[in-house]
Amino acid sequence: MDTILVTGGCGFIGSNFIRYVLKNTNNYRIVNVDKLTYAGNLKNLAGLKGDPRYCFYKGDICNYELLSFIIEKENVTSIINFAAESHVDRSILSPQEFIRTNVIGTDVLLEITRRFGLKKFIQISTDEVYGSLEQTGKFIESTPLSPNSPYSASKASADLLVRAYNHTYNLPTIITRCSNNYGPYQFPEKLIPLMIINAINEKPLPVYGDGMNIRDWIYVEDHCAAILAIYEEGKIGEVYNIGAENEMPNIEIVKLILKELGKNESLITFVKDRPGHDRRYAIDATKIKTELGWKPRYEFKEALKKTINWYIENQTWWQEIISGEYKKYYKKWYEER
Ligand code: NAD
Ligand code: TYD
Repeated sequence: MDTILVTGGCGFIGSNFIRYVLKNTNNYRIVNVDKLTYAGNLKNLAGLKGDPRYCFYKGDICNYELLSFIIEKENVTSIINFAAESHVDRSILSPQEFIRTNVIGTDVLLEITRRFGLKKFIQISTDEVYGSLEQTGKFIESTPLSPNSPYSASKASADLLVRAYNHTYNLPTIITRCSNNYGPYQFPEKLIPLMIINAINEKPLPVYGDGMNIRDWIYVEDHCAAILAIYEEGKIGEVYNIGAENEMPNIEIVKLILKELGKNESLITFVKDRPGHDRRYAIDATKIKTELGWKPRYEFKEALKKTINWYIENQTWWQEIISGEYKKYYKKWYEER
């Protein structure tokens, strides 16, 4: 049985990925290493208690000694790196932690892969490394990197390190670049969960600028299936874009959420724009579709409803978050607008 070290497995996508793999296959043991930052939550994986195919270590991906110990003790064969500081607005408030975790942390994991001769290293990157699009065109894997925020610059830096380790040391690496995810367990600082929760609580829904920025949305389970396909069949040294061909202006999504929850559009509040706000993202995922036969299974409106229902049914999960440390961040961020 292959043992995969998943980093950042207590976050949104990592926890969905671990659940997805353990539910749909019986080929893997998963060792989850997570620092449990504000975004990491053990409750995201509470259902796995007692599963012998899963274990957890609280730890920082910048800690080379700890990672070396875990790799040997658990006979780890490969790494999938989800761990990151992931929120653009926080990177604008304070970039340092983004450089530390996203750049230095990735470098430590690459060194670990090299030292222990691991079989595979998958870097979970983002379409944001490509920068911003005008009204037409889509990102392909060879689109030049042109990041605009401290977050995307840190992710692009990590991608370049992964590329260099592959090129220089023949390290068996693959990079994935996915568009915006939504689904259960997403931290309520991101657009969709924030708007759902504010709508439920009848609080203002803060839309940046004119609300016409476009993101290309994918349901998190489709992303997880793509990562597993890439892990199993992807070509070493390659980059794979992942997306579901679902471009939407932010304001349209906000209106859909209000409609689904039966709330009034008067809750929409246009606020000061995000500095350097990328206008449009759109992913061309032809490569993964033709090479690996992956395709998204979820239709946007249905999966958005499913997501809204999850937040309705899991209020204690997010109530604990919004009444904790997050409250201070939200206040500071909101005051700036
Ligand atoms: P998240 O913020 O929900 O989770 C990040 C996890 O990483 C948390 O559990 C956190 O505790 C952990 N972590 C942070 N710093 C760490 C460190 N130094 N050591 C160990 N663990 C650490 O993020 P997410 O939305 O699940 O994103 C996961 C990955 O997917 C990120 O690499 C992100 O760049 C990428 N990605 C996200 C999206 C999206 O829409 N959310 C889209 C494309 C790519
Ligand atoms: P976000 O979920 O932060 O993802 P990213 O910036 O990584 O794409 O934001 C998605 C879009 O929604 C982005 O264009 C910014 C916008 N947005 C708002 O209009 N209001 C908000 O409160 C947030 C968090 C985001």
